[in-house]
Amino acid sequence: MSAVAVDPRLARAFRFYETTVGKKVIMAATGLILFGFVIAHLLGNLQIFLGDPQILADYAHKLRAIPALLWAARITLLLAVLLHIWAAVQLARLKIDARPVSYRKRRAVGSTYASRTMYWSGPIIAAFVIYHLMHFTWGTALPGFQELRPHENVVLGFRSVPASLVYIAAMVLLGLHLHHGLWSMFQTLGVSHPRYTPALKRFAAAIALFIALGNISIPVAVMAGLIR
Ligand code: HEM
Repeated sequence: MSAVAVDPRLARAFRFYETTVGKKVIMAATGLILFGFVIAHLLGNLQIFLGDPQILADYAHKLRAIPALLWAARITLLLAVLLHIWAAVQLARLKIDARPVSYRKRRAVGSTYASRTMYWSGPIIAAFVIYHLMHFTWGTALPGFQELRPHENVVLGFRSVPASLVYIAAMVLLGLHLHHGLWSMFQTLGVSHPRYTPALKRFAAAIALFIALGNISIPVAVMAGLIR
């Protein structure tokens, strides 16, 4: 008999996580947190179109006004990313274990192009985020980086065509990832009904398109000389 007493609620939570549904709930909840960040980040970044570099500088200062809050948000985001990846790996393993002998011919029955891209778009987006932090947060990948001058850094960064193309490609993948991810999230969290399925699918596609195009508009505008 084990000498360690485990809180029954904790044990129940662990047993729930062990199920496929439990892992999908983790994917959906952490995905929702990351989606919230991506939307808020995009809306903040779109202020660059207002044209005054001081607007983004003030915004960056405001975000840092309460360090404890900033770090709580950063730690929450980091934990969400790690749990999202962890649950994805576990779900992939469960899928492989459930079908030890692979089909001779792969057939995409009932899966969309976006759903089949999830397992490779996810790691590429994670790699993009690391490059992005080196580019605009730490400045290690941007010669001439200025601390707390996001407008100038973004213009400097996107004057490089290869860097802009990396961003545009990553945003196309992010759009595909969100398209399927949002729709999966609605299903896992129970926000789905046969009557509303087409509308919810259109909604997920529209948000994913808005996020991809909104982000892409920034490097494109810099390269076109519309943002200086
Ligand atoms: C063209 C699109 C984007 C632009 C122009 C952009 C711009 C920036 C800038 C200027 C910063 C530094 C802000 C500061 O120091 O105050 C930043 C930070 C960051 N960005 Fe982006 N970003 C873009 C897309 C994305 C996307 C798609 C993601 C996630 C998938 C992302 C994730 C982050 C993260 C995690 C940080 C660090 C936030 C922190 O300081 O804790 N960004 N971005």
